[in-house]
Amino acid sequence: MQPAPPATTEERDAFLRDVIEGLSASPKSVPCKYFYDEVGSALFDQITETSEYYPTRTELAIMQAHVSEMADQIGSGAVLIEHGSGSSLKTRVLLDHLGDLAAYVPIDISREHLLATAERLRMAYPDLAILPVAADYTSAFALPDLPDGKRVIYFPGSTIGNFDEEQASAFLEQAARIAGPGGGLLIGVDLKKDPAVLEAAYDDAAGVTSDFNLNLLDRINRELGGTFDRDQFKHRAIWNKAASRIETYLVSLRDQTVEIDGKAFHFGEGEAVHTENSHKYTVKGFAAFAAQHGFRVRQCWTDPDDLFSVQYFETEA
Ligand SMILES: C[S@@+](CC[C@H](N)C(=O)[O-])C[C@H]1O[C@@H](n2cnc3c(N)ncnc32)[C@H](O)[C@@H]1O
Repeated sequence: MQPAPPATTEERDAFLRDVIEGLSASPKSVPCKYFYDEVGSALFDQITETSEYYPTRTELAIMQAHVSEMADQIGSGAVLIEHGSGSSLKTRVLLDHLGDLAAYVPIDISREHLLATAERLRMAYPDLAILPVAADYTSAFALPDLPDGKRVIYFPGSTIGNFDEEQASAFLEQAARIAGPGGGLLIGVDLKKDPAVLEAAYDDAAGVTSDFNLNLLDRINRELGGTFDRDQFKHRAIWNKAASRIETYLVSLRDQTVEIDGKAFHFGEGEAVHTENSHKYTVKGFAAFAAQHGFRVRQCWTDPDDLFSVQYFETEA
């Protein structure tokens, strides 16, 4: 496999700009998309294997149970475009059932992980056109030339939950544009449930989610010359009932000053840096939201305990 190219100057500049802006604000925050460097992507894969993190195994089970119906909805000769494809684990269930896909287009911000995954998929599916795109889907990005065929956006993992309402609207509008008339959207949407189950899923006993969150500080040190001591911060996950979301934070364990690119940032003892939201929906609530952006629900699948949903939508033809 070819070594992945290093992050571009523009990518580093955007990372530095967003970190400085977020840590200069009150309250402090850093966008969650920066979790995903090569180390972060590997840690995310480990999170999905913890006993507390029900979303991945539940969504995978839904996919396995209903993939024939999903394949019927998608139809033959489609172009499957996946936003935030990660290790494309659940995608394999679809690829195994969609023998005549025109192309698979995985899009991810974590370039090295994306290219390594694409290489593995090429070996497993030698007849499929696999066209990886290393891009931040929250900004404008170019797609490669795509073959003809119905375009179906695949967005599993309840990554939609990381967006606030405005960001989720922008995402759905972009998805509708890319899918075009008569296009599809197959999306994994995590559902509201017992807060204790949710908080455990985002704060596992083995500390993998904590490592994933703290890797953000290591990444700032590695790529932006930061001076964070990760042992002086603590991972926290809380359920915000009013906003219907899990919020994760990095909490400063003492009064401290950290330098990033020659700028000093002060953290008071107990001060929290907001690093991620994971919004939880109801099936009906999400379908109504998607309808506001031109997506009509065609079919929805859930697990027997209604922990998670996979929903299929189409735009007007
Ligand atoms: C929660 S993980 C889900 C991974 C996989 N889809 C799954 O269901 O297991 C989110 C994925 O989206 C990618 N990602 C996050 N923000 C992104 C962005 N702004 N643009 C492109 N990819 C992004 C991450 O690198 C990661 O692979």
